[in-house]
Amino acid sequence: MKFVLRSAAILAIASFSAGASENIDGKPNVAKASQTVAQLCSACHGADGNSASPANPSIAGQPAEYITGQLMNFKGGVRNNPVMAGIAATLSSEDMRALGIFFSQQKPKGQVAKDPALALSGQKIYRGGNLSTGVPACAACHLPGGVGIPPRYPRIGGQYAEYVYAQLKAFKAGERGMDKEDKDANGKVMAQIAAKMSEREMQAVAQYVSGLR
Ligand code: HEC
Ligand code: HEC
Repeated sequence: MKFVLRSAAILAIASFSAGASENIDGKPNVAKASQTVAQLCSACHGADGNSASPANPSIAGQPAEYITGQLMNFKGGVRNNPVMAGIAATLSSEDMRALGIFFSQQKPKGQVAKDPALALSGQKIYRGGNLSTGVPACAACHLPGGVGIPPRYPRIGGQYAEYVYAQLKAFKAGERGMDKEDKDANGKVMAQIAAKMSEREMQAVAQYVSGLR
């Protein structure tokens, strides 16, 4: 009798702690993730992943695997950002999986390109690249509408131009994607592309991308 009681108690504790990040069946706990979002993410990324400020990227509708992968990169120091590193440090890999699923299920709202003339020159690069410098067409991997191709290629359509430009600059400078131990194969693909882009091309394509939907 005593034994039965004790194992029931252990079972209760085990399922309680699993419930923190995973359901009993081992599936990521998306309901729990929505609470984490309210407590830890919504102030910057919005409750539904649509950020209200260009200082923070929108993450609604990103592939789940991409979100989880970036959180792991922040936690492991593969992608450097002091704010996100501090936040990711508090998350378990199950939390990161569940957060990825939560945000992938949110609907992106998009932006409007603020400089149509600049966006038009960005459109050329986006669709056709730059043959003379070897910049490939962005549409090849991020698709013509900028929705990306899960799991590897993120959505960039409708993102803040400021963020897109900042990331292209970081890739070009080797601050993102060029991990010393070569742990960032996906980031490296993008870093090698950005390395070939001019300042003007990065600004133009960022402008175009922000208006894509
Ligand atoms: C204080 C503001 C802040 C909070 C809170 C915050 N983030 Fe972020 N997040 C940022 C900023 C700024 C970036 C862009 C980092 C960079 O420039 O590399 C970012 C980047 C990201 C990215 C990468 C996006 C991409 O397109 O590559 C993901 C994923 C992410 N955050 C998820 C989360 C999650 C999940 C939470 C909550 C657990 C969270 N963030 C909380 C500010 C915040
Ligand atoms: C060969 C495929 C490929 C092509 C072509 C490509 N990209 Fe990417 N891009 C990627 C991959 C892979 C990632 C994800 C990197 C990671 O996981 O960190 C990415 C990431 C990005 C990001 C970061 C998104 C975020 O939310 O942080 C931006 C911005 C971006 N690409 C812009 C562009 C632009 C602009 C072009 C065209 C000049 C382009 N890409 C062409 C593969 C590609």
